Amino acid sequence: MAALKYAGMDDTDSEDELPPGWEERSTKDGWVYYANHDEMKTQWEHPKTGKKKRCAGDLPYGWEQETDAKGQIFYVDHINKRTTYFDPRQAFTVEDVVVKPKRYDGNTAALEILQGRDLSDKVVLITGGNSGIGFETAKSFALHGAHVILACRNLSRASKAVSLIQQEWHKARVEAMMCDLASLSSVREFAESFKAKKVPLHILVCNAAVCTQPWCLTEDGLESTFQICHLGHFLLVQCLQDVLRRSAPARVVVVSSESHRFTDLVDPCGKVDLALLSPSQKDYWSMLAYNRAKLCNILFSNELHRRLSPHGVTSNAVHPGNMMYTSIHRSWWLMTFLFTLARPFTKSMQQGAATTVYCAVAPELEGIGGMYFNNCFRCLPSPQAQDQISAASLWELSERLVSERPAGVQAL
Ligand SMILES: NC(=O)c1ccc[n+]([C@@H]2O[C@H](COP(=O)([O-])OP(=O)(O)OC[C@H]3O[C@@H](n4cnc5c(N)ncnc54)[C@H](OP(=O)(O)O)[C@@H]3O)[C@@H](O)[C@H]2O)c1
Repeated sequence: MAALKYAGMDDTDSEDELPPGWEERSTKDGWVYYANHDEMKTQWEHPKTGKKKRCAGDLPYGWEQETDAKGQIFYVDHINKRTTYFDPRQAFTVEDVVVKPKRYDGNTAALEILQGRDLSDKVVLITGGNSGIGFETAKSFALHGAHVILACRNLSRASKAVSLIQQEWHKARVEAMMCDLASLSSVREFAESFKAKKVPLHILVCNAAVCTQPWCLTEDGLESTFQICHLGHFLLVQCLQDVLRRSAPARVVVVSSESHRFTDLVDPCGKVDLALLSPSQKDYWSMLAYNRAKLCNILFSNELHRRLSPHGVTSNAVHPGNMMYTSIHRSWWLMTFLFTLARPFTKSMQQGAATTVYCAVAPELEGIGGMYFNNCFRCLPSPQAQDQISAASLWELSERLVSERPAGVQAL
């Protein structure tokens, strides 16, 4: 007998067999509990295995649950005209296993996060989805059935991206639309065309960016890195916020960067300074402009979350990874050289898209926002990026900038 016991084969037919004096019962909503008649006590755990169980499925056809005068539940089998205190669902119980959210890290690929997920009821909009991390993000969503819209400044590059995705899966629902974030009127036109489609918007990924490009002003009279990375996205969300609210629960993911840590946006008086965000040519340093724009991304995401989360729209900012070989380096030969050196050691595009995809779909992030994620993990951004006053101040400044440049009016 002892040998059987050590082999895990005790002298009972089943490990579930109850010791004498115990009875298995279930609550009205199907949870199994155990009553000890000798000690007059009840407990949720099986007295031998320590496991918790619940009934799987509904009562068999023709059965009904009722309560007697003492408040005890009994079951009526109307077809066979009999009653019993034994819950027939107890024949089919399942263990109460707490499903812990899966842990991802810097090696996780976007498609791994989406494994087994059906996104066919979701509409996803991605700015700059024609190349790099944005393309990989768009492809991942489209391969899982989502209706994906690429908002791009160049329609021929965007159409090429659409056909690349459709080559992978001919049923992918992906389309390209024109949206130049360097032009406030283009963003407004895009938003109108999007609304004319009369589709919801469940996931908005603010991904597009430029980095280290030479100083130049947009048609709206603002420094282009600032306008493309931040202000264009700000206006896009302003224009589409009613669609997002109607589509709630909806999520916004703003793609930022760790480089936000190396700068600040406020003047010596502590106010967000437009001269720092959109500097003149003589005060311009391209890397600094990018870092500031990436800091804007986090502050914008935080404030957006604060304002829209009561309406079911959450927002998080992400860092996709370091020095991934996309086209982001193309404006400056030195960046191209550094990105080439780093290339063997950096994340793949799929890994670069993972944190964005995680923030867009993870069930454990439902209703959660105003955070910063790296490697699919919540982490703290710089103190500047956590400053709520700067976030509110940037929002007000951005509101003023877009309202000073209303539709149809071009700045000098
Ligand atoms: N690569 C990295 O190591 C790295 C690191 C940290 C953060 N990030 C962030 O990741 C995001 C994606 O960058 P990426 O590395 O994938 O670079 P990328 O391949 O250069 O992608 C940037 C995308 O933005 C688009 N874009 C540029 N200007 C635009 C405009 N005016 N209007 C609309 N779209 C515009 C580009 O379109 P075109 O193809 O037409 O130029 C391109 O599709 C960016 O937010 C970037 O800051 C990247």
